[in-house]
Amino acid sequence: MNKNIESTLVEKRIFKPAKEFSKKARIGSMAQYQKMWKESVTKPEKFFAREAADLKWQKKWTKVLDWKCPYAKWFIGGKINVAENCLDRHLGTARHNKAAIVWQGEPVGEKRTLTYAQLHREVCRFSNALKRNGVKKGDRVLIYMPMVPEAAIAMLACARIGAMHSVVFGGFSAESIKDRVLDSGSKIILTADGGYRRGAVVPLKKNVDDAMTLLNNGGTNPVKRVIVFKRTGQDIHIEEGRDVWWHRELEYVDADCAPAQLDSETPLFILYTSGSTGKPKGILHTTGGYLLHAYMTCKYVFDLRDEDVYWCTADVGWVTGHTYMVYGPLAMGATSFMYEGAPNWPENDRFWQIIAENGVTVFYTAPTAIRAFMKWGDQWVTKHDLSSLRLLGTVGEPINPEAWMWYHRTIGGSRCPIVDTWWQTETGGHMITPLPGATPTKPGTATLPFFGVDAAIVDDAGNELGANQGGKLVIRKPWPSMLRGIWGDKARYKQTYWSEYKGMYFAGDGARRDEHGNFWIVGRIDDVLNVAGHRLGTAEVESALVSHPSVAEAAVVGKPDELKGQAVVCFVTVKTGITTSKELANDLKKHVRTVIGPVATPDEIRFTDALPKTRSGKIMRRLLKQVAAGELIKGDTTTLEDLSVLAKLATAED
Ligand code: WT7
Repeated sequence: MNKNIESTLVEKRIFKPAKEFSKKARIGSMAQYQKMWKESVTKPEKFFAREAADLKWQKKWTKVLDWKCPYAKWFIGGKINVAENCLDRHLGTARHNKAAIVWQGEPVGEKRTLTYAQLHREVCRFSNALKRNGVKKGDRVLIYMPMVPEAAIAMLACARIGAMHSVVFGGFSAESIKDRVLDSGSKIILTADGGYRRGAVVPLKKNVDDAMTLLNNGGTNPVKRVIVFKRTGQDIHIEEGRDVWWHRELEYVDADCAPAQLDSETPLFILYTSGSTGKPKGILHTTGGYLLHAYMTCKYVFDLRDEDVYWCTADVGWVTGHTYMVYGPLAMGATSFMYEGAPNWPENDRFWQIIAENGVTVFYTAPTAIRAFMKWGDQWVTKHDLSSLRLLGTVGEPINPEAWMWYHRTIGGSRCPIVDTWWQTETGGHMITPLPGATPTKPGTATLPFFGVDAAIVDDAGNELGANQGGKLVIRKPWPSMLRGIWGDKARYKQTYWSEYKGMYFAGDGARRDEHGNFWIVGRIDDVLNVAGHRLGTAEVESALVSHPSVAEAAVVGKPDELKGQAVVCFVTVKTGITTSKELANDLKKHVRTVIGPVATPDEIRFTDALPKTRSGKIMRRLLKQVAAGELIKGDTTTLEDLSVLAKLATAED
């Protein structure tokens, strides 16, 4: 069948929650969802005060919300500690010796389980190690770790003593570490000798060493201490006076560390993400509201129960790993499964083997992964018993209906509800998502707003659009886990998110709402790419390219890609006297990897004599996108400075 026709047919199918599921679910009907949602947006203070009572507050708040657009404060006057809620709150209950983290390394056979009592103890000890190394409340701690329980321990230890973590994904380069150290002013780095990925060792410590060299050469290295966790046992450099071993530090400390008394608005973490211009920005999240939202979404969207084995496949380097591998599930007292490596190591069925072996019940992954699994073939799935699964989730990009159906049938055995969760680093947690026991789903839509979320589709003037009209996605009210700012750049916060429309948060996505109110997310409408669920600023890749001695100018656009959603296509003009070649193209790809990291590796380099520009000198990205996608050039080109440029581009080669 024609792919488009099949998509349309599939999109029309409605999947109602099974009665069995709804009966047990916390929100079991649309009527209940609607009633609660209405209260959550009309009386947010009352609604969230009731929900927040589930958490442990060291001191109760005096006011739920203080909103002076675009600045929100939640639970003012309240004191609360995230680590205490994720750990201490479960001690002395039936969860005391329950598995908090179940871990598997990539090398087959490596396993660890940490109960709540054990995790609490480890976090307390490491908190003391941090203190011993001079970390104080408000300090920034850069975490560059593989996917091992110590990554979560490090985060929770920061939270326990009121330090802020800034986790940097292990796939980022030395240069990226350097930028983040400088921007955040981190005095300490927590890392490991290495980590395993697809059978190879990722040289984490070596990358940190290179970052230190860059910083030292720049003359301003704020990093005084690097704590190294021994994961692989490979040979590494230890810089006397700066680098210390994680296990040695633990020899000096005891397990007694009271959680710090923290104001609800104490900064919890910074997480860097790409924007449409310049360098990545440090998204700032704070304590009380963030924790509440992480907790509530795990409760209502993932419907987590004590019996669940919940697995979120995201790396801790992304916000999904923060909220849905560490903070949300642990605040719920759930068992959070963690896997170190690649889905195709040693073979293509590693994920299904893990699910079967551990009896995973709730599984959360990305559409790009689902599309890869589809391509690898059903035979990898069907040889495993996946009957433990009861709920599936996706996040990161719009899921195409075919992938949704495959996920539903082949992984979910046509029995598990799917929650397609739309959210962002900035939102801290789920914003638009089905509730599995209540919301009828359709392949391809993230459906309806979560509690407290007043989402709408507006036109360029900010007027709300009617059903099925494409526009921009905005949020019109503050929500507990909203970002509180961009680290070190107050003006950019206002400019990026709150200046497009008065009083509304602009998400950067295009979307429409259908006649039932379901949101269909189209994707980014700014100069941000979504490559395999990872955000990448075109400007970032462009500036990496022009830092290469041969490059004069570069323009980067996305091209539709069956597996990754978008592929990175770079149009490059070289300096006079430079000859273009396949070698140079490969060299440029390598250069981008070195500057940003493997996540940003260009898929195509296309050399061209000039880039198409408007008379005012702006690069015409719309045209480049069409050229990249191999489409005929459509639309108005009359403002093109030099029309002959187009002809060249269309034939430019790798
Ligand atoms: C962007 C945010 C949220 C954690 C992972 C990505 C896209 C995310 C969906 C979804 C359609 C989605 C949006 C958004 N996105 N989830 N379910 N359906 N698009 O976080 O790196 O901050 O990226 O990812 O375009 O703006 P992020």
